[in-house]
Amino acid sequence: MLTLNAATTRTIREDAEAACRFLAPWLGDLNGTTMLVTGAGGFLCSHFLETIAVFNESARPGCRVLAVDNFRSGVPERLSWIEGRSDIELRQCDASQGFEPGERVDWIIHGASIASPPLYRRYPLETIDVNVNGTRLMLDLLRRDGRGMLFLSSSEIYGDPDPAHIPTSEDYRGYVSCTGPRACYDESKRLGETLSTTYHRLYGSPVKMIRPFNVYGPGQRLDDGRIIPDLMSAAFERRPIVLYSDGRATRSFCYIRDAVRGMLLVLLTGAAGEAYNVGNDEEVSIGDVAHIAAGLESPDLPIRFETSQDRDYLSDNPQRRCPDLTKLKKLGGWAPEVRVREGLARTLRSYREAAARG
Ligand SMILES: NC(=O)c1ccc[n+]([C@@H]2O[C@H](COP(=O)([O-])OP(=O)(O)OC[C@H]3O[C@@H](n4cnc5c(N)ncnc54)[C@H](O)[C@@H]3O)[C@@H](O)[C@H]2O)c1
Repeated sequence: MLTLNAATTRTIREDAEAACRFLAPWLGDLNGTTMLVTGAGGFLCSHFLETIAVFNESARPGCRVLAVDNFRSGVPERLSWIEGRSDIELRQCDASQGFEPGERVDWIIHGASIASPPLYRRYPLETIDVNVNGTRLMLDLLRRDGRGMLFLSSSEIYGDPDPAHIPTSEDYRGYVSCTGPRACYDESKRLGETLSTTYHRLYGSPVKMIRPFNVYGPGQRLDDGRIIPDLMSAAFERRPIVLYSDGRATRSFCYIRDAVRGMLLVLLTGAAGEAYNVGNDEEVSIGDVAHIAAGLESPDLPIRFETSQDRDYLSDNPQRRCPDLTKLKKLGGWAPEVRVREGLARTLRSYREAAARG
């Protein structure tokens, strides 16, 4: 099953090309520079690498990438395509323990984290370490001679928002438990943002933060534990869809291509010391998404409702989540383009492409 994530697919390539077309006015800033990407073997950051690789096909000398991952949750095979490339170098190491690049680094994307709820509940201290110590180490590296850093925070910093603050804008302070089973993730992302804004205030560090809202798409681990991989896994294997909730909670799912466009735009044009929501403002219930996924197969897959064996499965799980994207939309004409039905169809298509290639 995991080998499905192993390789780039036609769908992933199309997404990277589309992201590059949109970002063309700004990508020139990366030419002749070096970018450090932590969490490069993960879902989101591997799509960054795909996008930079497409940019490098036509740019001279292009952007050199140092790709860092300890493969706690990332899949080494996902980066198999970079083997033999001179523009992207993989360094397997722990981003929370310090990283000596041995060369000038212009840009940093700090995406390393343990992001899947079942996994961060299993590795809470490692999750805190990478979001706090790792972020501080990256901020110190940025101070040397960096031009910009992007800290991948999370919409989880809002916790379970007050309904009056949905759609949620960046100035909402959040309603978060500091002791619950999700706190290792939510609170360490919040402290990562505090560190980032502190470095900006003290040293003028050009760090920007993004708060992704439920990003999904091709190449996400099917055993990741988040809802879309669970649905895609069932659709891929043509088995019944099982929901471990009543399906009424809502989310706003953002297709990876829209997220990559937004994130790189923030890195290259966003205001230093500022946080930006990145997502899609199409709010849908988990039940509706399950129905869309079920309808990707013919006949529709059955949907069953069950109770999870994991008693913390729904603890502190927000009921509604939808971003206010006004701030990001003011940058460079960005808007989400891929609606959830199309995004799910593309995601399933990509798994089938990977499987067909073996
Ligand atoms: N996908 C989403 O919807 C979403 C939403 C909000 C925030 N984020 C954030 O975006 C980033 C990427 O998320 P993702 O969905 O791609 O998750 P992912 O698990 O696919 O990727 C995270 C990567 O970080 C690596 N990693 C973990 N600890 C590390 C360490 N100490 N040193 C080096 N590498 C380490 C993992 O091995 C993995 O490859 C994370 O910071 C996550 O918190 C993602």
